[in-house]
Amino acid sequence: MATNRTFTMIKPGAVKNGHIGAILAHINKGGFKIVALKLTQLSKQKAGEFYAVHKERPFYGELVDFMSSGPIVAAVLEKDNAVEDFRTLIGATNPSDAAEGTIRALYATSIGENAVHGSDSDENADIESNFHFAATEMC
Ligand code: RTP
Ligand code: MG
Repeated sequence: MATNRTFTMIKPGAVKNGHIGAILAHINKGGFKIVALKLTQLSKQKAGEFYAVHKERPFYGELVDFMSSGPIVAAVLEKDNAVEDFRTLIGATNPSDAAEGTIRALYATSIGENAVHGSDSDENADIESNFHFAATEMC
């Protein structure tokens, strides 16, 4: 995948709270084009695989339970400098540290239920996009 793509999920809390439309609009206003999109629910096993990098962390069990607790929206986004610019658009992991106007400042309710995921590198954007989408689903 090119370095101009990143992967995101709208997490179960933000979906439950009715923020899908507002968050997708925020993403578009931030200059990102949506090149893949789906509403789906992760099994506990899939959520565990997705966040396997954190399996030794104390919050791993809680994270896996939360990420499999309800529907999510998965998407692949395109923009120059996508990974870094999207992390700026979403704000810090803990919403109380997230800059004003960022997606997490607006829609996250806690560090665990922080509205959205954003890939942290081009390599992980590629891995995560392929985890959720077939090549034919990324336009
Ligand atoms: P993400 O991967 O979801 O985009 O979040 P991130 O890079 O900003 O943060 P990361 O360190 O990758 O952590 C993954 C997710 O784990 C949850 N977390 N909970 N209770 C805690 O102290 C804690 N720390 C992290 C968050 O939901 C975080 O997004
Ligand atoms: Mg992360």
